[in-house]
Amino acid sequence: MDNLISLVNKIQRACTALGDHGEASALPTLWESLPSIAVVGGQSSGKSSVLESVVGKDFLPRGSGIVTRRPLVLQLHKIDEGSREYAEFLHLPRKRFTDFAAVRREIQDETDRETGRSKQISSVPIHLSIYSPNVVNLTLIDLPGLTKVAVEGQPDSIVQDIENMVRAFIEKPNCIILAISPANQDLATSDAIKISREVDPTGERTLGVLTKIDLMDKGTDAVDMLEGKSYRLKFPWVGVVNRSQADINKNVDMIAARRREREYFASTPEYKHLAPRMGSEYLAKMLSKHLEGVIKSKIPGIQSLINKTIAELESELSRLGKPIAADAGGKMYSIMEICRLFDQIYKEHLDGIRPGGDKI
Ligand code: GDP
Ligand code: NA
Ligand code: MG
Repeated sequence: MDNLISLVNKIQRACTALGDHGEASALPTLWESLPSIAVVGGQSSGKSSVLESVVGKDFLPRGSGIVTRRPLVLQLHKIDEGSREYAEFLHLPRKRFTDFAAVRREIQDETDRETGRSKQISSVPIHLSIYSPNVVNLTLIDLPGLTKVAVEGQPDSIVQDIENMVRAFIEKPNCIILAISPANQDLATSDAIKISREVDPTGERTLGVLTKIDLMDKGTDAVDMLEGKSYRLKFPWVGVVNRSQADINKNVDMIAARRREREYFASTPEYKHLAPRMGSEYLAKMLSKHLEGVIKSKIPGIQSLINKTIAELESELSRLGKPIAADAGGKMYSIMEICRLFDQIYKEHLDGIRPGGDKI
């Protein structure tokens, strides 16, 4: 099944790479039909921290205020045990990053290139792939945090602009919403819950994550929230304890942070009974499994779009004839290849699986 997620990843990347060359009108529709996971929530709710702990790496720009000012489409690719991990940006093909601090700087620089160093936002995504033995195959989208007021240097429209950008991503029916709420605030005031309820009233594609459980007032706990008694979602809430700002300043590494998080849930009497389904590691595995299920259930639709895309690309190529730019032509061929591969792998899976995902 890992194969299927990684193929969807490839199609997504190929569609993006094809970009302006994509005369085939099915391409954008195909991209949108592929399930992905978007991280939403208020500013400083812990979105970047959750993403980093799912990946198990420090690589995101962080700080107070609006740090994430462009969508970041992050594709995680699992590679063989023992292989060296690296990252690659779509806008810098053929450049392999092995230093993740440099990845962080490149995200910042690439954000500034588009927004001109102001505190403006842009809806043009940055595409980043991480190849590592320690990740699960996933596509995650980091989005700017929802805010209530503009700060110095920002136009008043920014509050609405961010909301519109986030909504444009999460209103797509194939978007899985990872809704981040801090446990030290009332859920009734959660930006993540507010906007996800708007686009997904039945909670069918919303996964609730509770951060900052360690920062709750003494004498209070998150049990009611984690058990879905404060706000019911279709899927169980997952609680996490990310690194605090002090931890980040002290360079507490991810492995140590995950270990501490595990100990926190296992040793706190209130959370002991929930411990097996708490924490970042559990969240990463749950997300991958969930994404798999969604992909399986969407396969018939994806399948017909893929066939349509192949047909369109083929006719486009024959219309263009021989003197087509090698670059564009090559990319079209590669997306066709990937689509065909998807077709083939899916058919192999069909032997054991009915569309809808149940084993026969
Ligand atoms: P974002 O703006 O939603 O992306 O939030 P960040 O991930 O940048 O986190 C904002 C601040 O909250 C940072 O200083 C984090 O260290 C801190 N933080 C996030 N999650 C937790 C948590 O679970 N516990 C603690 N103690 N601090 C957290
Ligand atoms: Na922030
Ligand atoms: Mg952030």
